[in-house]
Amino acid sequence: MSNQIITIRNIAQHVGAAVTIQGWLYAKTGKGKLQFLQLRDGTGIVQAVLFKPSLPEETFEAAKHLTQESSVIVQGTVKQSERAPGVPGGYEIEVTDLQVVQVAEEYPITPKEHGIEFLLENRHLWIRSRKQWALLRLRATVMRGLRDWLDKQGFLEMSTPILTPAAGEGTSTLFKVDYFGDQIYLAQTGQLYNEANIYSFGKVYCFGPTFRAEKSKTRRHMTEFWMLEPEIAFCDLEQLMQLEEQMMCALVQRCLEECAEELKVLERDRSVLERILPPFPRVSYDDAVVQVQKMQAETTDPEQKQLLQIEWGQDFGSPHETALTKQYDRPIFVYGFPTQCKAFYMEPWPNRPEVCKSVDMLAPEGYGEITGGSERISNTELLLKRIHEEQLPEEAFKWYIDLRRYGSVPHSGFGLGVERTVAWIAGIHHVRETNPFPRTLGRVYP
Ligand code: 4AD
Ligand code: MG
Repeated sequence: MSNQIITIRNIAQHVGAAVTIQGWLYAKTGKGKLQFLQLRDGTGIVQAVLFKPSLPEETFEAAKHLTQESSVIVQGTVKQSERAPGVPGGYEIEVTDLQVVQVAEEYPITPKEHGIEFLLENRHLWIRSRKQWALLRLRATVMRGLRDWLDKQGFLEMSTPILTPAAGEGTSTLFKVDYFGDQIYLAQTGQLYNEANIYSFGKVYCFGPTFRAEKSKTRRHMTEFWMLEPEIAFCDLEQLMQLEEQMMCALVQRCLEECAEELKVLERDRSVLERILPPFPRVSYDDAVVQVQKMQAETTDPEQKQLLQIEWGQDFGSPHETALTKQYDRPIFVYGFPTQCKAFYMEPWPNRPEVCKSVDMLAPEGYGEITGGSERISNTELLLKRIHEEQLPEEAFKWYIDLRRYGSVPHSGFGLGVERTVAWIAGIHHVRETNPFPRTLGRVYP
């Protein structure tokens, strides 16, 4: 095999050339002297055409007997295709040689409709399907886009521990781990460690898996999800919102530029994403509650009426966020949540201790919360008071309290959930399909 091995994504650069493509059979049709193979190589799909008279008998016969997902190495000439629109990408390969690597056994996932449980059970195979391929490529672009943007702004990536001695984000969703006889937990957040890191580096972020023993079986909740968490010294709540807004706009722009093919496969309306421009509306929690209460009062649907029930002081649930964000065409910031529904480390609102300097970014079209952040308490006594109020073990937070003793500064940060962000950009219903191997309340296989 002497031809250059190319990727389907770059096929346009090779028109007229003799090339080699290594991949798998996605679908096949044929009639008479012609066989059409839809080949995928991980970067895209292309049609390979075999014309009987110009090939050895056994090559043509081998192609005829290929099954879905068989692995092959194909040689041929790249042609601009007139057969479009049936031909993906507008190019095809006129095959001169075909090597079968393995003839696949009968593949369980066929073009017919399968139930979601079956697909999740076969996730190790399902990721090869076109829509899943597009989603997971989009995910990789989102992760790369976020990292690149922060790196350019002078942030330093810091690894934070997964095995942690204390709760970072509330005690009700901790996964326990037996650590040589001691009880410790899987990390719910890397934030507290990043609050130490800023005193060495100024602006940092961590990016990794986080764990929540969430009993919620909603389209937004996973038990293991990836979170990006920037943390910034000398930063207040308004500066934090500006940073988040800039980052999100740059990210959506990058996805529009780099994931045109993926967004097409996902049938995502690009114009919806093109509208994601600053500034994002800033809505106080007080006003957001009033908005939801108004929708609750006005709805004639009895189920909605019950779901949208909310009193000042309660955190928003999925139905509230859905209703609220359907009103907007770009993400909104909801800020100033009641202290009682947020974590212990959040700075109180000046002269209003029942409210804290917290902010959630809610994605439009009913998607809801994609980031959660706040200004942090920088005063030692205040932090101790909050730790005691929440009945957290002071001993485990000794190091964290220490940070307030040596050059404490106002500082802020937020966490962005990768799966929720990808689900919104992709325009899909459930977060589980945005993670290669999702972990949810009911599933840890495969
Ligand atoms: O709002 P959360 O709980 O904030 C924190 O953990 C902070 N310590 C972050 C920080 O300030 N550094 O979670 C942040 C984000 C949410 O907005 C959401 O996008 C995502 O993480 N998230 C989940 N995603 C999927 N499944 C779950 N169970 C999630 N819980 C939170
Ligand atoms: Mg939150």
